[in-house]
Amino acid sequence: MGKQAKLELDGKTYILPVVVGSEGEHGVDISTLRQTSGLITLDDGYGNTGSCVSKITFIDGDKGILRYRGYPIEELAEKSTFIEAAYLIIYGELPTSAQLKRFSDLLTANEMLHESMKNHFATFPATAHPMAILSSMINAVSCYHPRLIEGYKADMFDVQAARLLSKVRTIAAFAYRVSRGLPAIYPKPSYKYTANFLHMMFSEPYQDYDLKPEVVRALDLIFLLHADHEQNCSTSTVRMIASSQANLFASAAGGVCALWGPLHGGANQAVIEMLEDIHRSGDDGSRFIAAAKDKNSGKRLMGFGHRVYKNYDPRAKIIKAQCDNLLKVLNISDPLLDIAKHLEEAALKDSYFVERKLYPNVDFYSGIIMRAIGIPKEMFTVIFAIGRMPGWIANYKEIVDHQGTRIYRPRQIYTGETERHFVSLNQRKSKA
Ligand code: ACO
Repeated sequence: MGKQAKLELDGKTYILPVVVGSEGEHGVDISTLRQTSGLITLDDGYGNTGSCVSKITFIDGDKGILRYRGYPIEELAEKSTFIEAAYLIIYGELPTSAQLKRFSDLLTANEMLHESMKNHFATFPATAHPMAILSSMINAVSCYHPRLIEGYKADMFDVQAARLLSKVRTIAAFAYRVSRGLPAIYPKPSYKYTANFLHMMFSEPYQDYDLKPEVVRALDLIFLLHADHEQNCSTSTVRMIASSQANLFASAAGGVCALWGPLHGGANQAVIEMLEDIHRSGDDGSRFIAAAKDKNSGKRLMGFGHRVYKNYDPRAKIIKAQCDNLLKVLNISDPLLDIAKHLEEAALKDSYFVERKLYPNVDFYSGIIMRAIGIPKEMFTVIFAIGRMPGWIANYKEIVDHQGTRIYRPRQIYTGETERHFVSLNQRKSKA
């Protein structure tokens, strides 16, 4: 018999099994608790709830460890590419050369959008945020591939996954071009994933974008570092939608919406806006740090803090080094980088941030790299979404492959009015 936990309440004892993960994490399995005791657990914001067992990504937030399928993020960042890591995340193993070629070929075969989809882009106002366009258009793809909405079919999964991963990049680039009033640039089958995205963003019909290898590598690294991060807000949203047996594209479109918020993926845009504000105001960051510590100011040090990491986010270390390197290669001196470094140094010495274990997260330096590449800030969260696609696809797959997946349906403790009776309109009095 495995480990067990005991819960005592009102003179009764309930025995609960303990699930032990491969890295020694323990979770009390309460799935039968309501049945046996009438009790549910309450965990506002799910901070202490394991919503699933998963084999995809391991994080040790206290030690600052992140591994995709067991491989440390530092090794993948140094030796791998986004597409190889995507394969690893989705299928569980690093690909052989033949598998990688087949995967790349599938991505290339699915890179075009149905020509009619261009009409949809044209109908968004020029001021539309590209995250809204991205989410809408990912969902719209299923209108052009009706078999998608038939739901999960194991024999179709490879094509569906490649279709999503490949088309999301085309959609993102088109959204940017349309928002600038620029003509759409079609993908080039001879280009690899990240180079092709940069080409669709920045080439012109009369001139190809100059693909600098350092720029391609820096963006590829950003995609790779965002590729999965276990049960965060957007991935949990994807799993939630997938659990209702909605299709992969509907699930991913929901993930984009969840990612958009400034406390999640939207933080990379919020960081740059914060740094721009600080720069404009002539502050070296000290005034902002003071405001971020004051709960009444409504300000937070964006790009700092994380629900899981109570240590330096390992992705932030890699991105910071890449940021220094890229700016040097491109010969760019960005005052925002100096402010960011000053903010980091000051925060890491400040008891407010130290006591709360608030460290830079993945978003703190990524925006400075994207700025250097020429990606506008409203596209930052879109870049995050492209990067996160393998993680969403893998989590979708875990849900649909798992025998006996139940629809996600948490409970609640109701604290509203108890039963009362309908009052007709002419007899109601305002309670406000
Ligand atoms: N600046 C100032 N104070 C902060 C910050 C911050 N960035 N982050 C947390 N705190 C404080 C909170 O006010 C709280 O203080 P208190 O204990 O005195 O009330 C304490 O630290 C704990 O913070 P919570 O909000 O309870 O932590 P939670 O785990 O719910 O939130 C989050 C994590 C949302 C990431 C938070 O740290 C934050 O808002 N950071 C800024 C936004 C950001 O960078 N988001 C990106 C996260 S990474 C990602 O999604 C890719």
